[in-house]
Amino acid sequence: MNRRMVVVSNRLPITITGGDKQWTITPASGGLVTALEPLMSEHRSIWIGWPGCGPEAPVEELFSSFSAEHGYQLAPVPLAEDEVEKYYRGFSNETLWPLFHDLLGNCLFDLENYRTYDIVNRRFAKVTAEASRDNDIVWIHDYQLILCGWYLRQLRPDRFLAFFLHIPFPSPDLFRRLPWCKELLSGLLAYDLIGFQTLRDHRNFIHCATSMVKDVEVVSRQRKQTILRFGERRIKVGHYPISIDFNRFSEGADSAEVADAAWQLHENYGQRQLFLGIDRLDYTKGIPERFLAFERALEKYPDMRQKASLLQVVVPSRTMVPDYIDLKSKLEQLSGHINGRLSEHGWVPLHYHYRSLDPVQLLAHYRAAEIALVTPLRDGMNLVAKEFCACTNDNRGVLVLSKFAGAADQLGRHALMVNPYDIEQTADAIYQAFSMTETERCRRMAWLRAQVQREDVHRWLENFISSAGSSQREPEAVS
Ligand code: F6P
Repeated sequence: MNRRMVVVSNRLPITITGGDKQWTITPASGGLVTALEPLMSEHRSIWIGWPGCGPEAPVEELFSSFSAEHGYQLAPVPLAEDEVEKYYRGFSNETLWPLFHDLLGNCLFDLENYRTYDIVNRRFAKVTAEASRDNDIVWIHDYQLILCGWYLRQLRPDRFLAFFLHIPFPSPDLFRRLPWCKELLSGLLAYDLIGFQTLRDHRNFIHCATSMVKDVEVVSRQRKQTILRFGERRIKVGHYPISIDFNRFSEGADSAEVADAAWQLHENYGQRQLFLGIDRLDYTKGIPERFLAFERALEKYPDMRQKASLLQVVVPSRTMVPDYIDLKSKLEQLSGHINGRLSEHGWVPLHYHYRSLDPVQLLAHYRAAEIALVTPLRDGMNLVAKEFCACTNDNRGVLVLSKFAGAADQLGRHALMVNPYDIEQTADAIYQAFSMTETERCRRMAWLRAQVQREDVHRWLENFISSAGSSQREPEAVS
């Protein structure tokens, strides 16, 4: 691509730690960053976002050392503690997050939080307007910054604005419950290109926009994209399922260090089949339901006892949000209860760990596990499902996957699909995975791996960029 891309996200792709003059900046290592970095450094681009640290950190100094090493710049949007509380924890994570994941009961609708979200989005827009140039593509990421496009459009009417939503987009019935739904729709309609994870999210948005905003009409509809007309402007809407860097995971899992760590892990849990769950601590991930389904499987299929254990790693996340604090105690209680009921001499059914894993340990967990339980109540995509497949180089793993994860669209044919709310059905799928023959495991996993390898994060980026590139040249097709 010969145009510079300016990326905007709530968090910058770094973590700043330290104090007392001992500060360090650590680059993030997710798939998005890996895919974007070459492009960012080729054009000496800018990534704009919240540095996630207090005002005492020497941000300028740290950013210039980062830029010298990585070839692109970071531009900070500092947030006061009260703004973090209302914009990030409040409106982003207690309103939009549960609403967009279909969990209306977890939503808090608070005007002050919305106002701060609006103010912070305007500030992101101002920094972006100043940092970007005429021919740039400005790419804004995720639900924390929906209104940023609206403010940027006022400041820079001709700039090309793209948006990608990493989480699901709700149905019109749910979206309407949000007191500020019209404002958010206006925010989204200010972009030139809007990307969602799945066809369902894409359709939900089109239904919301055409039914709730006057003057929006569909100009053309193709398999993967819709063109909307809104006043004088045309907006391209598409779905682009995000993915991982397949080769990095697969090659990493093959290393001697990971093989060693995986072997040790399996030794710790005995020579039994290991079911694995790895999730951020989040009520959307369906972890209590998964525990209940595993317990039910052990009751219903006693031949699993002594021969299978569930290893659940829960990574700390959003630790100041009340619903997350409640979930932590719920998981502790439930795992204790299940182990109290079902443990036998020399066998514990459920191993629950609340901690982060370093990269070697993460790959070792994927490699050691025979079966992955990826059973969110709702998820934009779920990259754990794809990472597990990429790391299963011997094809001998089974993926149990929720119908309500975005990844189900791509992996549903060869994973064991479940409705995580249906404890009986999930227990049956757990047993089916446990007793599946090796030939069947290999057949399914080979297919899953080929899929994840083909549609990796690099393909995702190419597709999104090529849509951005062609957006200004769309023919005026007829619906
Ligand atoms: O899936 C959405 C997302 O915002 C990711 O981009 C991010 O890695 C994750 O949730 C955790 O988010 P937070 O920045 O709130 O810790």
